[in-house]
Amino acid sequence: MSPSGAVSLAVVGATGAVGQEMFSVLEQRRFPAGKVRAFASARSTGRTVAFNGTTLPVGELKADAFERDRFDIVLMSAGAKISREYAPRAVSAGAVVVDNSSAWRMDPGVPLVVPEVNAPDIRRHKGIIANPNCTAAILCVPLKPISDAFGLERIVVSTYQAVSGKGARAVAELEAQTRAWAAGQALPHNVWPYDMAFNVLAVDWKVAEDGTTEEEAKVMEETRKILGLPNLRISVTCVRVPVFRCHSESVNLQTRRKAAVAEVRRVLSGAPGVELLDDPRAGRFPRPKELAGSDPVYAGRIREDGSVENGLSLWVVGDQLRKGAALNAVQIAERLIQDGL
Ligand SMILES: NC(=O)c1ccc[n+]([C@@H]2O[C@H](COP(=O)([O-])OP(=O)(O)OC[C@H]3O[C@@H](n4cnc5c(N)ncnc54)[C@H](OP(=O)(O)O)[C@@H]3O)[C@@H](O)[C@H]2O)c1
Repeated sequence: MSPSGAVSLAVVGATGAVGQEMFSVLEQRRFPAGKVRAFASARSTGRTVAFNGTTLPVGELKADAFERDRFDIVLMSAGAKISREYAPRAVSAGAVVVDNSSAWRMDPGVPLVVPEVNAPDIRRHKGIIANPNCTAAILCVPLKPISDAFGLERIVVSTYQAVSGKGARAVAELEAQTRAWAAGQALPHNVWPYDMAFNVLAVDWKVAEDGTTEEEAKVMEETRKILGLPNLRISVTCVRVPVFRCHSESVNLQTRRKAAVAEVRRVLSGAPGVELLDDPRAGRFPRPKELAGSDPVYAGRIREDGSVENGLSLWVVGDQLRKGAALNAVQIAERLIQDGL
């Protein structure tokens, strides 16, 4: 950090869905950035990104990127392969890395952080802090206060995940498929071998031999790690839907102590990062299209589930490019600055 408190910052994956959002979150939160550099692959040479009224050239990420320039914080979102290779280089060169990929999340030596849930874990970092899977991050924000108030026995989650969770090319393909359908033309298939427009995909990730997808495994493992509940019983089904932004999650819980609906509403309405939208008969319930671009995790449709003891159901929506990625990473970076890195 400079004597003025300005932080030197690198954003890796600057042209991607998360990278683009990173710049808008940094700008909106008036992040105390001094020098800022944007990196992507050789494909992006010549491109620029807009930040704080200026345009930053996008540089190609090369082996010596963090030696030629010194950075306090590196925000990485260019996939696990790049993070595995470049995060240790950035750390050796003196930076702290906040990594959006899955590369380091389950490493016992790396904190996996949602600031509203486990901010103190940031202080344990040895150079890398992992940002969770977007679905897990959104899920943990309302789960934490419920867990603290009532205890958690078991969770069953079904997701309705937006296409921007798969990156900028997926957004472009849903747009192109929708336009083609409206024009009566054949739908293009560059990202998905199937139609994404007007469809629902119960498999959009690698499938393990036991039938679980990679995304489902991440959400289960990471939720246990973030909440600090290694034995939590959790079952997850991840589904891709033709929504541009914001993941929705149907969450069914069994709590240890009885959780009356009014009490759950009271607990959630005071919880950090949560906003209650729960009056379904008056049309107040979380909808991804209207909530895209906003910061909170929204909870609604809170109701008892009489099929099990202490059963509870709720509907959770969060913008996965913000709370599930860029916002969460910037919140971690802000805490690092508060703690003197
Ligand atoms: N999308 C989400 O909602 C979300 C949420 C949480 C976490 N994440 C994670 O964040 C990461 C990025 O996701 P995304 O959705 O932003 O993907 P994306 O839209 O496909 O963007 C990928 C970014 O990585 C860059 N990149 C690719 N190969 C590179 C290389 N060899 N060297 C340097 N940069 C390279 C790309 O640059 P070019 O433009 O030059 O190719 C682009 O800037 C992934 O690990 C993903 O799992 C995503």
